[in-house]
Amino acid sequence: MSQIQSLRGMTDLLPDEVHRWNAVENIARKQFGLVGLKEIRTPLLEATELFSRSIGEASDVVGKEMYTFFDRADRSCTLRPEGTASVVRSALQHGLLSQGPQRLWYLGPMFRYERPQAGRQRQFHQLGVEYLGLASSRIDSEVISIAWDLLLSLGLKGLVLEINSLGKAEDRRNYRTCLIEWLQDNFEHLDSDSQKKININPLRILDTKNVDTQKMLKEAPLLINNLCNESLDRFEKVQELLKALEIPFKLNPRLVRGLDYYGHTAFEILSDQLGAQSTVCGGGRYDSLIEELGGADTPAMGFAIGLERLLLILGNSISNDISPDVYFVNKGYQAETNALVLSRKLRAQNISIELDSSGSAFAKQFKRADRSGAKWALVLGDDEVSRGEVFIKRLRNSHDDKSPKQYKISSSDIDQLINFLKDKIKN
Ligand code: HAM
Repeated sequence: MSQIQSLRGMTDLLPDEVHRWNAVENIARKQFGLVGLKEIRTPLLEATELFSRSIGEASDVVGKEMYTFFDRADRSCTLRPEGTASVVRSALQHGLLSQGPQRLWYLGPMFRYERPQAGRQRQFHQLGVEYLGLASSRIDSEVISIAWDLLLSLGLKGLVLEINSLGKAEDRRNYRTCLIEWLQDNFEHLDSDSQKKININPLRILDTKNVDTQKMLKEAPLLINNLCNESLDRFEKVQELLKALEIPFKLNPRLVRGLDYYGHTAFEILSDQLGAQSTVCGGGRYDSLIEELGGADTPAMGFAIGLERLLLILGNSISNDISPDVYFVNKGYQAETNALVLSRKLRAQNISIELDSSGSAFAKQFKRADRSGAKWALVLGDDEVSRGEVFIKRLRNSHDDKSPKQYKISSSDIDQLINFLKDKIKN
């Protein structure tokens, strides 16, 4: 019978990988804890309207990439393609904003029907932060610094922070008119996909992947030149604060982001190690989204880091050591029962044990013990059982360790065994 494979773009995370992910998650948890962020978990499945209203009907995400279906009650449901809309929906639904500003973070799978390649999956994971209810330009720099510092604390190098301002809705409206005019004048030089977008979502053309269109867009009018003084002042302040925080950045007047809810500050962090999918983090201010989703006029700002891309850059620099403290070699009817009982007692003392349950020959079990990465093996055969002993063997040697390689301890003296192992594991 043929084997069933995972769906295209949906990747399994095998145990070694999961361990690396947990290491990243632990560091993120710690960093976010330092800033006082609170974790939020929202469902993977939402009403489709949540995303069409927030991300925008004309965006690629809503137009081409969502996993949308009708449930058994004929409601249109969508697997979330990102986290911001869900966090806002949840905050509104549960009245979180009436308790004051919210500083939230989340981690979880997102779904987009994109063409899979390195760093781009159909199920991927985002680590996101959303600040709801805070308007100051200082917040923009603080949020950017949280993303930047997290990536630095993971030891990443070769990162570039790009920022832009998308101004107010009115600025974008004015710019849209002038951009459409310019695009129409240059219509025949655009790729066909961009031609289709002219009247639906002209700003999206600016982040086209078509190289020829990209080249000619260098001549296109820039949004920054259409910003009102207030928007420009605001953007100036964000830059001053980033300088005060000593976070290097590059101005990218063509950075428009792929989702429609942004205004004012938009930013991306790129890595020189990622090839085509170089953006590891993207975010920005979205001051009108909360109102658009039925709440009061409330400012907001956030970002999301793509975890698959982050793990790609981290490579082996993040530990994937999942070795147990002790490997338990055991053989013989009574010995195997005693080993099971003893393992449980030791685990209750926070000693991690990989218990060999194969019943195979001692030599084979010792080979597996070596491969497990454990520093110590406990050995129990019927001989040890009849002598009331447990045999302990050192599997890995440090150069300066002159202590004996093996020990025998009475199996009835559990406390001695626990203290012995704790002492050895610590060193
Ligand atoms: P986004 O730029 O669409 O923003 O996604 C953020 C990050 O998610 C990207 O920079 C990338 O690292 C990762 N990502 C996106 N799509 C894929 C994919 N198909 N495969 C692998 N990684 C991917 C947002 O989603 C916004 N919600 C961010 C935000 C939060 N803005 C404000 N708050």
